[in-house]
Amino acid sequence: MSLDEAHRLYGKPTPRIDGAAKVTGAARYASDEPVENPAFAWLVTSSIARGRIVAMRLQAAQAVPGVLDILTHENVGGHAGPPPQMGGGPTTTTLETDRIWHDGQIVAVVVAESFEAAREAAHKVEVDYAAEAPSATFDSPGAETLPRPGGEQHKDPTKGDAAAAFAAAPVKIDARYSTPTQHHNPIELFTTTCVWDGPHLTIYEPSQSMYGLKAGVARQLGIDPDKVRTVSRYVGGAFGSRGGTTSRTAWIAIAARRLGRPVKLMATRDQGFTIATYRAETRHHVQLGAGRDGRLVAFSHEGWEVTSRPSTYNVGGGDTTARMYACPNIATRVNIVHADRNTPGFMRAPPDTPYMFALESAMDELAYALAMDPIELRRVNDTQVDPVDGRPFSSRSLMKCFDAAAEKFGWSRRNPRPGSMTDGDWRIGWGCATACYPSNIGPAAARLSLTPQGMATIQLAGHEIGNGAYTVVAITTARSLGLPIENVRVLMGDSDLPPVTVAGGSNNAATTSHVAAKVCEAARERIAAAAVADRSGPWAGADPARLRLEDGALVGPSGAREPLARAVGRVSGGALEVHAENVPQGVPDTAIAGLYKGAAQMSRGTGRKDVTAFAFGAHLVEVRIHRRTCEVRSPRVVSAFSAGTIINPLTAYSQFMGGTIWGLSSALHEHTEIDLRTARYTNDNLADYLVPVNADVPDIQIIMVPEADDRVNPLGIKGIGEIGIVGMNAAVANAVFHATGKRIRELPVRVEKLL
Ligand code: MOS
Repeated sequence: MSLDEAHRLYGKPTPRIDGAAKVTGAARYASDEPVENPAFAWLVTSSIARGRIVAMRLQAAQAVPGVLDILTHENVGGHAGPPPQMGGGPTTTTLETDRIWHDGQIVAVVVAESFEAAREAAHKVEVDYAAEAPSATFDSPGAETLPRPGGEQHKDPTKGDAAAAFAAAPVKIDARYSTPTQHHNPIELFTTTCVWDGPHLTIYEPSQSMYGLKAGVARQLGIDPDKVRTVSRYVGGAFGSRGGTTSRTAWIAIAARRLGRPVKLMATRDQGFTIATYRAETRHHVQLGAGRDGRLVAFSHEGWEVTSRPSTYNVGGGDTTARMYACPNIATRVNIVHADRNTPGFMRAPPDTPYMFALESAMDELAYALAMDPIELRRVNDTQVDPVDGRPFSSRSLMKCFDAAAEKFGWSRRNPRPGSMTDGDWRIGWGCATACYPSNIGPAAARLSLTPQGMATIQLAGHEIGNGAYTVVAITTARSLGLPIENVRVLMGDSDLPPVTVAGGSNNAATTSHVAAKVCEAARERIAAAAVADRSGPWAGADPARLRLEDGALVGPSGAREPLARAVGRVSGGALEVHAENVPQGVPDTAIAGLYKGAAQMSRGTGRKDVTAFAFGAHLVEVRIHRRTCEVRSPRVVSAFSAGTIINPLTAYSQFMGGTIWGLSSALHEHTEIDLRTARYTNDNLADYLVPVNADVPDIQIIMVPEADDRVNPLGIKGIGEIGIVGMNAAVANAVFHATGKRIRELPVRVEKLL
């Protein structure tokens, strides 16, 4: 589908309302916020991965002209606690003690009059360590493998007897897969600016969770969260890396407090690899048992994930893979492997990207074992009922996606025999895989003001992480109030505004659209109530429920109209201000109170009682592999997605395409390399950490398959932020098998694995 076709289907594309601000530089990212007379911070990070600090010599650093302060565990260790870890559980400490948990851990913060002086002095801080041999990753001596702890968020779906069914199955696949360490590398670096005004702290920092950051830092500093304000109006890429609170923020706050002056930190690209989170490496053991007709009788998926020493962070994607296909016997399990590493965290489709690589590769292997077309294998096992819980899917258009993509791709011309399709020196492979992402929605509050001139301002502490979030809120607000989008102003990214849950799990459009619609409905109710109460007006005695806002007017059931100015003017004689809260089904009524305290509650697509809610998609990929060099190129991709209501086809198209490109990157390029002796990342820069450049990005066709879903939530929004990346890695590896007959079970697919 071209973008034009998408627009015909989904309505008018809306360019980003913040587009002009972004391209003219008027948009303020956190470190652009002007503060008066700032000092500059530079982080000193550890050069060992495990051990203790024995001594720190600061004289040379202190002698650098312009140095104002140097924070170490010796002088500020007791002033802050470690940040709360995402998903609960402890995390590594930084300046709190002399303990070193991982390479690149913050051990000192140098503050100076200038950025350059701070940097020079930081390089002159001398640290003596008592080093111990670190465990870098899987198979490293000293790495400790444990079953992950249980709990509400850590359920391993299990049903029937998968082992017995697998043993008895006529056709079996038993295979192991792995995915590498990856880092988000958002273009905007990990910055923090802290400003104190008496007891009040303002933090400017790119964030996906305004209230989470506020509460997290307050807890670390032992101060009242009401005294902390967080500001993040624009974020230059987040992808999960800004969903939690990292340790740097509290130390910059302490530095600013000690100095009595604002302090700005701009961490470097390489420091971003160790002071923030990342996608940990994973391993998988998948067993598929099927009948000769292709129907699954047994599915088992065991995963292993690396984490830090103290944290139990894990993603547990069996919760996704167990729900993909009809199967009577299911077993899933997750193990965590503790190593001397920084704590991992969310990265775009955290569970689904690695775990679906394993499942969708195994499904492709099963298709060859059955001599069945891989799309047909998915059709045979398609289901409208969640295989784990027996609940209906709120809607599931998986096969519609495959069919739409297959037609566009020309899949019917595929010769199934591996290595059979060629073009000169190039071997051609066509592969496919399922994409999916659970549909989540969170609680939120919002405030709306509407002037008699028809200017609306909506305020909510939502998050513009580059996804078009401002525009989505503006569209819903404009539609609900019957106003042109130019009349709507959206304020977000500030914890002084009403709270919104963390922008994660692709919940943003669903969460903010529902609260925007609700606060607009509250405005309409106020206007309608005032209209019918006005005994001398045209609406006296009318049914207020039947009065609507349309084209800048209040409109009655018979089509009678009154200009908005008069209708709004009737409400307390002028501008109208309303507040509304939205607590989605599946989230407790206390959720709004929880949001104010920084909790990140969400109704999860896999955790509901009534339905299981997922968006689905299909990736079809062509690869070309050179016969002699084994260079892998991907000239074209067709990906189709069904994700319920699409609010803005323009930004949705971009999100799907961006996710698909990142999936290609995950298949062919990305890999954070680790030196096994030092447990250190060795390619911690954008020159050595490979990502696709334009020349690597093929012709990508995105199809948005129409889908109406009135069960997922009232507006039918499933979320689109993460689904694009899911399954692409498998689709590429499956295409590589089709081209070469070589099954790559360890990502990324690189030349050396094909030689
Ligand atoms: Mo996304 S990885 O849930 O921010």
